[in-house]
Amino acid sequence: MNPKRNLMTLDEFTIQETRKFPNATGNLSAILRDIGLACKIINKQVLKAGLVDILGKHGNTNVQGEEQMKLDIFADDALISVLKGSADCAGIASEENDDFVAFDDEYSKNSKYVVLFDPLDGSSNIDVNASIGTIFSIYKRVTPLGTVCTEEDFLQPGNKLMAAGYVIYGSSTMMVYATKLGVNGFTLEPSIGEFCLSHPDMKCAEQGKIYSINQGNSCKFHDGMKSFLDYCMEDNKEEGRPYSHRYIGSMVADMHRTLIKGGIFIYPADKKNANGKLRLQYECNPMSFLMEAAGGIGSTGTERILDVTPTELHQRVPIYIGSKNMVEKALEFVK
Ligand code: AHG
Repeated sequence: MNPKRNLMTLDEFTIQETRKFPNATGNLSAILRDIGLACKIINKQVLKAGLVDILGKHGNTNVQGEEQMKLDIFADDALISVLKGSADCAGIASEENDDFVAFDDEYSKNSKYVVLFDPLDGSSNIDVNASIGTIFSIYKRVTPLGTVCTEEDFLQPGNKLMAAGYVIYGSSTMMVYATKLGVNGFTLEPSIGEFCLSHPDMKCAEQGKIYSINQGNSCKFHDGMKSFLDYCMEDNKEEGRPYSHRYIGSMVADMHRTLIKGGIFIYPADKKNANGKLRLQYECNPMSFLMEAAGGIGSTGTERILDVTPTELHQRVPIYIGSKNMVEKALEFVK
């Protein structure tokens, strides 16, 4: 039998992309597929989240005698163990850990890439069964092959990213990733356990109708930010306002909606937090790389996020990201 099918799996897609470049080794594609594998393992555990209390609490053993783990630690371990065995990953840095991890076996010392990730972003949403996600970034290392990777490899600006993206564990599980070639989305087909191309060549509309921000923090916002919120809420039918407000409190979910429907997502600096809340290397750079590849913008309020020179792994920056026209308008208010 020769089954006719329209499905293209993540593996098939990344191999096709590699073939566009005669000199490509396929190692970057292999890392993307490994991240896909780790996220399928995480997804399996996320789907059981509501059962944790039934099967045993964190620190206990469940009925199978396995130790229960907090989901974000489980996700971190899953990514580290898959990437350690990956064909071309020299080391990782995770939002869960203070420091990066260099893989020091001979094979990994000769590997070209490093991976950064937030293993389970929005994990405070687990208890309420709202969408959460994994965010990842892939850089080519700058230290010489044959040595262990160092912090320098992880402190590269976002404009050096080779690929970045996220997996959203939502009403369906999707991987969305960007390279300089564009942004593509893959939905997990549970019956075959594969991510399949479902959203080719994703673009973020230049103008949307939704603004997304934790408005409960308004009392701490600077005047420019408050004025932009007034602008969003203003009754101006000709210009399509007021905009709708949506905020899940899980960056992956808020960004996924912003990418698909257009809009703006903001986590600003405020009077108490000069750099906002979100992390440059684990959240803001990968999302900005993806958003720019989809035609949108990512800014700190004063500069392009991808051009910020990172000085520490867990550095925070304010972020204004999404539809080009809406981010540009917000920047007029806050600059
Ligand atoms: P956490 O992983 O600790 O739940 O943090 C989530 C992040 C990000 O995903 C989200 O956009 C933001 O924090 C929400 O923060 P606020 O609760 O302050 O709005």
